[in-house]
Amino acid sequence: MSLTKAIRRVAVVGTGVIGASWVTHYLSRGFDVVATDPAPNAESDLRNFVDEAWVALDRVGRGPGASAARLRFVRNLDEALADADFVQENGPERADFKVKLFAQMDVAAPADSILASSSSGIPLDVIQSACTRPERCVIGHPFNPPHIVPLVEVVGGAKTSEAAIERALDFYASAGKKPIRLRKALPGHAANRLQAALYKEVLYLVQQGVLSIADADIAVCYGPGLRWGVIGPSLQWHLGGGEGGIRHFAEHLMDSLVDLMKALEMPDITPALKQTLIEGVLDEAAHRPVDQLAKEENEVLLGLLALRDKVGIEGSGHIDWSRAA
Ligand SMILES: NC(=O)c1ccc[n+]([C@@H]2O[C@H](COP(=O)([O-])OP(=O)(O)OC[C@H]3O[C@@H](n4cnc5c(N)ncnc54)[C@H](O)[C@@H]3O)[C@@H](O)[C@H]2O)c1
Repeated sequence: MSLTKAIRRVAVVGTGVIGASWVTHYLSRGFDVVATDPAPNAESDLRNFVDEAWVALDRVGRGPGASAARLRFVRNLDEALADADFVQENGPERADFKVKLFAQMDVAAPADSILASSSSGIPLDVIQSACTRPERCVIGHPFNPPHIVPLVEVVGGAKTSEAAIERALDFYASAGKKPIRLRKALPGHAANRLQAALYKEVLYLVQQGVLSIADADIAVCYGPGLRWGVIGPSLQWHLGGGEGGIRHFAEHLMDSLVDLMKALEMPDITPALKQTLIEGVLDEAAHRPVDQLAKEENEVLLGLLALRDKVGIEGSGHIDWSRAA
């Protein structure tokens, strides 16, 4: 199988929450996109989503050739995949369903195309199990919403070829995503595990009466979360180590962090704790509907991404001070 062909045409299978956002992302980066979904109002829902999201993307700029008019919607899966160079699958999160869907995609898509699943939790070993060309299947797990949040986690299954993984990583990077490679498949991939690790402690602190839900959110947003979002938790410790940097941190400061790690405990997820969470979050939301909160959050995220782009800072890179001026 040749996996060197340039990727120009993307097919998006399933246009629910994640699929519609992927469609928007690929259109905004100048790809021809064919989308398919059997739900009765899928096409109009998708076009409405793209139109609304399109305006917000003005903030970060779109790629050359970006046009919402490059979206084609077809109800038939075989037709949708007939000319695809890259397929992003976002169907319902059920193992039996994805196995059948991938077997059908495998027949319908050109032999040299990549088949990527957005699945959050079904192992690729399972998803690719009924494919005749399983070597071109990967997980390309986005963070919601993919038209705004750049991270995508790429992991293969036992039958995936190295070439397909590298091709997917290159493609996502060229399409404006921030792909990372997971060298082993684990439940929750990586980023959801990081979320779970932090959230375990949020719930513990709330249950112990140390913090309210709102104060726990403030602690993350206006404390370490603000810094993690700029250069990440490990490069951060290089600064924490002062002049000695990460070596000083590893040799002299890490022990106290390890003591804290050992002291961490699992919260007891009781109905009362869930009720505290619900009431605390509804107080914070202050009657703003979820879609309004999402719009407000997206607005700030796009502003942060635009700033990151303006100063030239990369996740693990450097500020270009001439651009920052
Ligand atoms: N929602 C998230 O935050 C999130 C984040 C990352 C990854 N994911 C993954 O993305 C995938 C989709 O999740 P979602 O939240 O968008 O679900 P969703 O229920 O919103 O969307 C699923 C879509 O698949 C469509 N569908 C059903 N049968 C189909 C078929 N035969 N062919 C094509 N489409 C079909 C449905 O009509 C629906 O529009 C899942 O695998 C999930 O694990 C979700």
